[in-house]
Amino acid sequence: MAKLIPVGTFDLVIFGGTGDLAMRKLLPALYHRDLDGQVTTESRIIGASRGALSRDEYLAEIRESLIRNLGDGDFDESHWQTFSQRIQYVQADAFAHDEWQALVDVLSGYENRTRVAYLATAPGLFGPIAAGLKKNALVTGHSRIVLEKPLGRDYESAREINNAVGDCFAENQIYRIDHYLGKETVQNLLALRFGNSLFEPLWRRNVIDHVQITVAEDLGVGGRVEFYDRVGALRDMVQNHIMQLVCLFAMEPPSSLHHDAVRDEKIKVLRSLKPISAADVGASTVRAQYRAGAINNSTVPGYGDELNGTSSTTETFVALKLEIENWRWSNVPFYLRTGKRLAGKHSEIVVQFQDVPHSIFPEQKYNVSPNLLRIRLQPDEGVQLSVMAKEPGPGGFDLRPVSLDLSFAETFGVSYPDAYERLLMEVLRGNPALFMRRDEVEAAWHWIDGIIEGWETSKQKVESYVSGSWGPAASSLLLDRDGRAWHSDNQL
Ligand code: BG6
Repeated sequence: MAKLIPVGTFDLVIFGGTGDLAMRKLLPALYHRDLDGQVTTESRIIGASRGALSRDEYLAEIRESLIRNLGDGDFDESHWQTFSQRIQYVQADAFAHDEWQALVDVLSGYENRTRVAYLATAPGLFGPIAAGLKKNALVTGHSRIVLEKPLGRDYESAREINNAVGDCFAENQIYRIDHYLGKETVQNLLALRFGNSLFEPLWRRNVIDHVQITVAEDLGVGGRVEFYDRVGALRDMVQNHIMQLVCLFAMEPPSSLHHDAVRDEKIKVLRSLKPISAADVGASTVRAQYRAGAINNSTVPGYGDELNGTSSTTETFVALKLEIENWRWSNVPFYLRTGKRLAGKHSEIVVQFQDVPHSIFPEQKYNVSPNLLRIRLQPDEGVQLSVMAKEPGPGGFDLRPVSLDLSFAETFGVSYPDAYERLLMEVLRGNPALFMRRDEVEAAWHWIDGIIEGWETSKQKVESYVSGSWGPAASSLLLDRDGRAWHSDNQL
């Protein structure tokens, strides 16, 4: 078990304190860190939102949601009594800056401690809340601000938000969250690549045939349908989570783990992405929406039904062929896909190495499969390398792929903490390494904007897929055209 590094006393103000993210992720994460003794007795968590709630009402909501959202047996009544003492509630409307007296009163006199404003709100409120904090003189030398994704809906809106927040906070006070960067297995990509000398010589165009990244979810959009319908899978998952995976996978070795050293390498990957324009979207992208089907033997409604029959072209699935135009990755396609209501929750990176240049096994000449390195992100986190081996037996020379399999859970014997636990502690400690820098976010939007424009101008069809499948046929065709196939589909 890695050692726990305590964080200093803090005031954490959660804007959107009654919202879904606060209730489902942030407060459970803080509860766990508190339970492990990482939070000092004097630290305070201040929920802020528009509603007129008493502290008791707020605590009752949190208690109920902790019982619902914490893992089995994690809620402990006596610890709740301790944890709840750190929690307060203030009413604050993002636009009514003159009515923030309650927040000013709670914070006044505590200017010397770490002060974090966590904006678990819609991105349209980021600028106004930052301005409210500045106007009420709540930004101190010890302040930090955390911005949840999505950061805008395109390059222009992201820039506007960055400018507005940048008028009130210095760049080194701004923490842009992508919770995938807090996942243990995503950080393990760095360990795998740069803690072993084995992989570096293989990590390049003349050894790797192509790379596949799948981030599949079996859940639908559920209660978020209105929000999701304005966003879609490309903005919700690709612009941030999948782009970060691509960057960590493909970047050059950084000079150190210093936050800017890593981010300087990631931005180079983003700047090397081959643009996908209107002329290319048909051949390089697939967008699709789920229809009714069955998952785990239960029938589930289609996306249109969840929208009460309103017609929508928002994609709940996207597959892309991405190319990185640099010396290391030239002509190595990266096939990416993500979707809701797929066959299971399953995220992995699969590296397919090149075919043997010449097979010496004539009878088996069609059976020498290329080596695969699977980096399983969730669930069952681990790494698996498939190699060809001879079937035991005196007759013939039959080959089949076998796996060298490393399961992190079995090896380390621990269950992984939620990404938000790690990220919240990093903000409180003042370490921005696992957060996105302004230029990264804007570069990722710049590339995504090209695809969205392409979809609009070419009026690219939104395919449909049955819930519980691996997506539309067009997604298999995307690889089939290049003589390849998705590897994850037989894994569940
Ligand atoms: C969020 C998206 O950022 O990530 C959700 O908004 C998605 O739509 C979620 O379900 C997936 O996260 P995880 O950690 O469950 O893979």
